[in-house]
Amino acid sequence: MVGFSCTQISDESKGGMEKVVLSYGEDCRVEVFLLGATVTSWICDGREKLYLSPNAVFNNSKAIRGGIPLVFPQFGQPNSIMPQHGFARTSKWDWSCGCHTTGDDSEGKCVFLLTNNADTENVWNHPFLLTYTVTLSKSQLKCELSIKNTSSSEVFECHGLLHTYIRLPSDDINRLTAVGFESQQFIDKMSGGEKFIESRETVNVAAEVDRIYINTPQNTPIPDITLLEDGKPFLTVAKSSRMITGGDGTIQEKPADVVFWNAWIDKSKALPDLGEGAYKSYVCVEPGLVTDYVSVGPEATLTIDTTLTVIS
Ligand code: BG6
Repeated sequence: MVGFSCTQISDESKGGMEKVVLSYGEDCRVEVFLLGATVTSWICDGREKLYLSPNAVFNNSKAIRGGIPLVFPQFGQPNSIMPQHGFARTSKWDWSCGCHTTGDDSEGKCVFLLTNNADTENVWNHPFLLTYTVTLSKSQLKCELSIKNTSSSEVFECHGLLHTYIRLPSDDINRLTAVGFESQQFIDKMSGGEKFIESRETVNVAAEVDRIYINTPQNTPIPDITLLEDGKPFLTVAKSSRMITGGDGTIQEKPADVVFWNAWIDKSKALPDLGEGAYKSYVCVEPGLVTDYVSVGPEATLTIDTTLTVIS
């Protein structure tokens, strides 16, 4: 009988690096490398939905180019002591909790953990527990990153983001449009960080794009971003974020930011682990909290999640 199963294997085609494969038969599967707890593949209905660069480096220390690298505790490199996008994506995570399935076997999940250690304390001296839950069902992948401040007295400030590389169905960025950003304010990194309001209902990519849509709505009738090819929807991206305070456990919703990024021709070429022409095959839609640092109080937990749903 088919059911969800989870196994850890060493991937000989990727330098023997360890990964966890959560699957429901052959056509429904997600792969997560312990390096960075990086989701590198999501197969739904037998087709790959995430983009992994053919030039991605698998050497247990460089961030994997593609899939869903996790950005924490900084986005970009405001603190030059830490690597760009923080250390979560280059740390070795633990997978210790097995495979959890719901009673009706409609979804399976696996959980990855990272706590502060000598390496993280060298560059960011705060105690934390990251819990990353990857949930697979027939047409959805949900990824939830929880950032807990394990100090009983100190506050820390951080960013967090799920740097999701979505594979375009026909490897053709010219056929992509996205709906769901209209009227939202964004920071345009291509214009030196200037802020604008998105006037377009339908957004396309015809040049390098690197923008942060700020505080995107999560409780409106259309909270999702829809990706379309030739006008036909193929995937939705939902996201939400919340803070659970230490002590009384009050939950405060926090509208997530969404980074929209495509390197286009020159930058693809300039990034060796992306490579010439790679820009045609992906778009990044990255939910997180990155515009301002978020203060996480003693024993509080900040959670950011994204749900990708295939439209067939
Ligand atoms: C995006 C940023 O999130 O990540 C871009 O907005 C950046 O500015 C891109 O170029 C890739 O970053 P990295 O560190 O993986 O090369």
